[in-house]
Amino acid sequence: MQNQVTIKKRHVTLGEFIIENQKDFPYAKGELSALLSSIRLAGKMVNQEINKAGLANILGSSGDENVQGEQQQKLDVMANDLFISTLHNRGEICGIASEEMDDYVEFNEELHKDAKYVVLIDPLDGSSNIDVNVSVGTIFSIYRRISQQGEKVTREDFLQPGHKQVAAGYLVYGTSTMLVYTTGHGVNGFTYDPGIGSFFLSHPQMTVSNKGRIYSINEGNYVHMPEGVKKYIKWCQELDPATQRPLTSRYIGSLVADFHRNLLKGGIYIYPRGTKSPQGKLRLLYECNPMAYLIEQAGGKASDGHTRIMDIKPGELHQRVPFFCGSREMVEKAEWFLEQYPG
Ligand code: AHG
Ligand code: MN
Ligand code: MN
Repeated sequence: MQNQVTIKKRHVTLGEFIIENQKDFPYAKGELSALLSSIRLAGKMVNQEINKAGLANILGSSGDENVQGEQQQKLDVMANDLFISTLHNRGEICGIASEEMDDYVEFNEELHKDAKYVVLIDPLDGSSNIDVNVSVGTIFSIYRRISQQGEKVTREDFLQPGHKQVAAGYLVYGTSTMLVYTTGHGVNGFTYDPGIGSFFLSHPQMTVSNKGRIYSINEGNYVHMPEGVKKYIKWCQELDPATQRPLTSRYIGSLVADFHRNLLKGGIYIYPRGTKSPQGKLRLLYECNPMAYLIEQAGGKASDGHTRIMDIKPGELHQRVPFFCGSREMVEKAEWFLEQYPG
């Protein structure tokens, strides 16, 4: 009879990690942990829908209707509904704002009366990539409400500067699905095992290198870019005396996927202002602020080219902002070019 067992290395699940790290918040009563668990649950559901998106298209009727004659929901609407209903069915937040909705939604049931938090979300980022099987994601940002607990949530609860975030993160639905988040104590990444149905800690304490070698920008907009950004791109394309190579250009067109690659490999992501889009394309509250929080926690930097992203006081929910984010030295170099070539 066998009397020896090989004890395998213990893998930490996201659930265990969240509970274990609750001690980082001495005054918290576990609501933030519960909220992160709700996001994890909604993320698993969205992941499942995304995984079968290609299949659903093959099986669906030729038009945009399903067999019952209903309009087929676009995946970003579906992701929005899944996140909102999952969070509504639990009691941790008193309201949510989303890219997919004009205004924020109040959660006013009895269940939400003690809720301390609000969430801002981009339920499906990079959705134009979905039908070509390229990575997409979800981005979330969490704030403690500033209005009185038990009262209705207010617009001011959502319009807080990024440095007030208590947690932020993203899910990337890629070759594997990952959840990466911060609560202000570093950045940790978890990879989803679909067979088991759990996220496991795969990337503890993620950091971004100071000097990166990747620049990510939609160069199709070149003629519309500010002079400083054009000069920075040209600088990236020059031979680096140390390596005798130019920097590498990589652009997926899904912020989450571009950010994730640059976080792991070192690089800069830029979405500048341009004459086509005066403030760039990306939204401050549910795209740039959460990514800025993550990159700072990983040792990098995020600005609008001049000002720290997380210090910008938002004026409206869907406000756009130019975005320079990634390895510290690369962001600082880009800022230097903007200063040298204003306009
Ligand atoms: P979303 O799908 O949530 O609207 O976001 C799309 C964003 C972002 O993910 C990406 O980085 C950017 O749009 C790409 O824009 P361009 O196609 O203009 O480069
Ligand atoms: Mn987006
Ligand atoms: Mn989106």
